[in-house]
Amino acid sequence: MTAVATALASAPFWLPRAVLEVRETLFKRINGVEGIPVPGPAIPVSNFRALYAHPAANGRSRGAALSDLFWYWLSPGAELHQEHLEPGPEYEAVARTTRQFLAIPNARAEELAAACLSAVCKPLGAKDLASVRLRDLMMPVWARFYYELVFGFPCPPEAESLIIANANDVVTALKCVSLRHMGKRNALTVYLEQTLRMHGAVHALPDFFSPQQQALYLQGVFFNTAIVQMSEAMTHLIFAVAQHPELETDLLAHLQEDRYLDHLIAETLRKYPLFGIAHRITSEEIALDDASNIPRGSVLCFHYADYQNSGFDDPERFDPARWKTVSAKSATYIPFGVTANRPCPAQAIALVTMRAAGREFFRRFHCASSAAHTRSIPNRGPCLLVPRDKTPRQGRIRSALICMAWRDRVEDVTRSLRQLVLGTIMVLHARKLRLCQHHFAGKACPFPGSGRA
Ligand code: HEM
Repeated sequence: MTAVATALASAPFWLPRAVLEVRETLFKRINGVEGIPVPGPAIPVSNFRALYAHPAANGRSRGAALSDLFWYWLSPGAELHQEHLEPGPEYEAVARTTRQFLAIPNARAEELAAACLSAVCKPLGAKDLASVRLRDLMMPVWARFYYELVFGFPCPPEAESLIIANANDVVTALKCVSLRHMGKRNALTVYLEQTLRMHGAVHALPDFFSPQQQALYLQGVFFNTAIVQMSEAMTHLIFAVAQHPELETDLLAHLQEDRYLDHLIAETLRKYPLFGIAHRITSEEIALDDASNIPRGSVLCFHYADYQNSGFDDPERFDPARWKTVSAKSATYIPFGVTANRPCPAQAIALVTMRAAGREFFRRFHCASSAAHTRSIPNRGPCLLVPRDKTPRQGRIRSALICMAWRDRVEDVTRSLRQLVLGTIMVLHARKLRLCQHHFAGKACPFPGSGRA
């Protein structure tokens, strides 16, 4: 009896990890063991960059069973999302279009990012103390920013709601905390198609796409990837500061210095890379050394956290000051991928806008959090915000932090069980739909409305 009571009481501390292990084993069983981990038993860290940059490590979707799952999560239109296009003229045209949209002057990007953040956070400034989920708070900021970047005029409230519903649906399904809801996603596609018809976009879209495909392209890159990535990056940045009160004095003293904020952002993206794994499918055999090679058609899984942890002293420590002496170029640091093999096209604008939005945020709020900060932030970053001109009682902040820590633990348990069930359902559903396999086999998907354009 005592043992059962102890097990139950301590569940928050062991159950989430146990469920994670069961989930991983289950997913492997269902999906089949696939992929060569890099770094891993066959490939040391020292080969990581060269292998990632290898010209034959260039396949994106075709031939990997796990592509069916990614396409399922990124639907509709995963087959024309830049990330998933195979190399070739179609990819080149799409990548060129994305670059055109992202090439706005730094000053304009900074101004727009700060204005969007300011407008979204303004109502919180009236409270003494606000309890928020950082990812939810950040989504409207980036919905507004990217809508204006794409269409050239401010984001109407209806569009904002549709963009957030779409991005939330994608990210919660990816983390297996919710099933996917195609209705929410398709509603955005329809809206974007209408907006394109009525106003067009700031730049021409690939003319080999139908109007619906053009809407899906925009949805994939700007209203899904951009919103999710920027909201998560900002969540990590604020969450990290909220959990390191020792940074506060320095932060306020150096808030106007780009270099200080750049170090803070670099350390955030080092410790919490947004990508867990990026994969490539080899189009030719790759010689590793005289004795071994990687066969054609292999799936290489590049583990960002393992790589980024490998070359730093005390990698678990969050220490922005380490960047005073480390050069990002020569470090084991690739938050935006590797230059030679389809790196993130938004690296420049993402860093500039994170800095501007971060500066605006920290100028307005002191933040504190007692919730768990993990790379995948399934808790969406619970955080307390105190406007700089308000002074709530310390006791109120302390009790709010105690409640937050307990709620986070309890949520961790319920969430991990939910992830196990929902993840299994989605993996099985993705296997049934086989969106990627049907696409490359040139077959119509036998389940209309399930994700293919
Ligand atoms: C801090 C924010 C961001 C981070 C850390 C990030 C990180 C990355 C990484 C690591 C990759 C390469 C993955 C691989 O090798 O397969 C990537 C690719 C990509 N990212 Fe980002 N990203 C961010 C923001 C954005 C934004 C704002 C957009 C859109 C506006 C974007 C669009 C893309 C696209 C389209 C690709 C695929 C590139 C290709 O295959 O040609 N990302 N991102």
